[in-house]
Amino acid sequence: MIVKSAEFICSNTQVSKLPAPVMPEYAFIGRSNVGKSSLINMLVSKKGLAKTSQTPGKTQLINHFLINENWYLVDLPGYGYARISKSKKEDWDKFIRAYLDKRESLQCVMVLVDSRLEPQKIDLQFCNWLGEKGLSFVIIFTKADKQSAIKTDQNVAKFKKGLLATFEEMPPYFITSAENQTGRDEVLGFIDEINKG
Ligand code: GTP
Ligand code: MG
Repeated sequence: MIVKSAEFICSNTQVSKLPAPVMPEYAFIGRSNVGKSSLINMLVSKKGLAKTSQTPGKTQLINHFLINENWYLVDLPGYGYARISKSKKEDWDKFIRAYLDKRESLQCVMVLVDSRLEPQKIDLQFCNWLGEKGLSFVIIFTKADKQSAIKTDQNVAKFKKGLLATFEEMPPYFITSAENQTGRDEVLGFIDEINKG
């Protein structure tokens, strides 16, 4: 897919105020600081479209970006950020889960997982929740430039094993780096296939 245009549409905290669900939509989610906003910028080749930061907790709203005037990319706040209050965490949880569960135009949830880490319980639990809700998802391993390909493959294999404890098969997955564009064509190709129906 060639990305001809990418524009910011709106930020929201209320599911009722989201853009009309008339175009296919893909939501990027994962632990705080995993690289969601950076990956979005890499996919659309526009640095600074989605706000990134070294400090976790940067993205706090549901952000809609319109791509090629016919599909939405959605940047979400990260989960598992330790330094926020319990009540804020619960608010996050309610609001994001309501969005994911109710959004009829959502085609696929893109779950980002840090390729440098051993499987994290919070990521596996989140995938299990998506499975319970019957939502389609894929795994996007991020920051692959930060270590050897062997190390990445080892962590991918461990994550697969973790998922296969509850799922019959591994969903599609992608190894990516926002730094050197690894996985860009694959992720965009996957989205293109779904959009074409
Ligand atoms: P929150 O919005 O806080 O949940 O974070 P996020 O998941 O959107 O992460 P963000 O894209 O802001 O990136 C967090 C940090 O990781 C930033 O310092 C990025 O520069 C860095 N980063 C993200 N992706 C990559 C990558 O592929 N390679 C490298 N080396 N650094 C990355
Ligand atoms: Mg972000």
